[in-house]
Amino acid sequence: MLPLLTFEYNDTWKVPTMQECFRLWNKYQMMPHIKAHCLTVARTALTFAKRFELAGHPLREDLVLASALLHDLAKSYTIYYGGDHAGLGAAWVMQETQNPVIAQAVIAHVLWFFDEGELAIDKNPCTLPILISYADKRVQHDKIVSLDERFADLIKRYGTTQEKIDLININYEQSKKMENALIRFGVDINLEPKQLVKIKTK
Ligand SMILES: [Fe+2]
Repeated sequence: MLPLLTFEYNDTWKVPTMQECFRLWNKYQMMPHIKAHCLTVARTALTFAKRFELAGHPLREDLVLASALLHDLAKSYTIYYGGDHAGLGAAWVMQETQNPVIAQAVIAHVLWFFDEGELAIDKNPCTLPILISYADKRVQHDKIVSLDERFADLIKRYGTTQEKIDLININYEQSKKMENALIRFGVDINLEPKQLVKIKTK
C-alpha cells in the first residue's frame, strides 16, 4: 500500500492565529500588494469553505484562514531571488508552524500533484489544498475574477518563454478541472465581491 497525502488531523498541531500569520508576513517581508492578495484569497477561501460545508464537505475554518493567509509567504523572496515560492513557502510554514496540513496547502497551491487515484481532482475536490489553490485562482491581485481572466493576466505577466506559457496552460487545465469537479460536487462557484466573508483584521 502506497502512502497517501491525506492524513488524520493531529490535535497537537497548532494553527496560527491571524495575528501570528501577520507576524510571519512581516518576518518574511511580504510586499504590501501580496498582503492584500492573501487577505482577499482568505476571504474567498472562507466563502467557498462555507459552500463546501453546504455540499456536505466541511473544513476547519482556522485551517482555511491560516493556509490562505500564508499561501504566498515566500512570494516576495522569490520575486527578488527566483525559485519556487510554493516549495519555499511550504518549508518556511512547516518550520514556523510545525503544522503539515497548512504546509501541504501551501506547497500544492500552484500545481496539484495527482492525476490518478483517490487524490485525483475529479475524485475529491473538496479538500483544503484544492480550496486554497482554487481560491487563489479566483483572485487577481485583490480583485475577484473568473479563471479565464486570472490566467490571461498570468500569461501576460509571466508568459515570457514558451516553457513558462506551457506551464501556465497546464495550471489552467488543472484549475478548470477543479472548478468543474466542484460544480459536480454541488459547490456554487459564482462569486460576487459583496458575497465575500468579512475578516476583522484588528
Ligand atoms: Fe502563489
